[in-house]
Amino acid sequence: MKKIPHRLFLITLSLIPIVLIVFLILQGVSYYKLPLEERFFHPGHHTLKPGGIMGHGLGIAGTLAMILGIVLYMVRKRIPSLMRLGHLKHWLEFHIFLCTIGPIMILFHTSFKFGGVVAISFWCMVAVFISGIIGRFIYIQIPRNIEGRVLSMAELQEMIRGLTGQLFLSGITDPDRKTLPELKEALLNQGSPRTEMKSILTLKRKELKLKRKIERLRSMQELFKYWHVIHLPFAIIMMLIMLIHVVVSITFGYRWIF
Ligand code: HEM
Ligand code: HEM
Repeated sequence: MKKIPHRLFLITLSLIPIVLIVFLILQGVSYYKLPLEERFFHPGHHTLKPGGIMGHGLGIAGTLAMILGIVLYMVRKRIPSLMRLGHLKHWLEFHIFLCTIGPIMILFHTSFKFGGVVAISFWCMVAVFISGIIGRFIYIQIPRNIEGRVLSMAELQEMIRGLTGQLFLSGITDPDRKTLPELKEALLNQGSPRTEMKSILTLKRKELKLKRKIERLRSMQELFKYWHVIHLPFAIIMMLIMLIHVVVSITFGYRWIF
């Protein structure tokens, strides 16, 4: 995707949830504000309650959005032959979009009352949502190549070896163990020519930068492992309880428009 259209696409994706929230608030603010016992007398009760035409519809649409958001991303991530269907990065953006509008719809589906066993599903959804935002932050911190894969550590180390190898040529031992000031001093003592000294120090700076990059990458990767412990299992619990909730509501005769 070209830069400008992609940016436009991202802006649209971020605007839709905001428009959705404003729309849903305008539709039902007078209803949601009422205490539970007074809601029955509100003219919009039969539409906006969780089992009402709009409330129930929001439950179904929100659930479908989340399922689609999860399935599309997981399938694209796990099946390498789907690589030609676009960068993983863009699929993640779509995952975030669908899994943002989904929870918004579910929030309005509950009409802000969080009773019963299904409340567990709701709070799992909140946990997954919040962990998603945190995970997204960690995710962009890990330098990834265009296909969304972690930049290979071996590649970086190969570059470091290349750099230190060049430093060895100047006749200074253990250049990779030396700090920048130590190396500078060794070069000055050796009476190295200015231009040579400058380029060696530039290489050393590059090497240090690479080393720092690797350290950061490692700790981020470590952090990201723990992140999956929240995001995925909570999503599974949410879906399982939601399934029971759907079966129960169908058993109780809720059909929506069908
Ligand atoms: C993750 C998805 C969902 C969550 C977190 C959720 C959550 C809730 C909550 C908190 C309530 C209110 C319970 C109360 O009265 O205190 C509710 C009611 C209801 N939900 Fe869901 N829901 C979800 C998906 C669905 C779906 C997909 C359907 C339909 C296929 C559905 C159908 C209903 C119905 C019919 C009610 C009204 C039940 C009643 O008034 O007794 N929900 N839901
Ligand atoms: C309730 C809504 C959400 C659900 C149910 C959900 C669920 C999932 C699932 C099942 C995965 C796949 C995990 C895997 O492949 O191992 C995933 C991946 C991911 N989600 Fe979500 N998600 C939700 C919302 C969000 C949000 C709002 C964000 C960010 C703002 C987000 C960020 C991510 C990221 C960064 C990954 C990629 C993990 C990776 O590829 O290693 N998610 N999500």
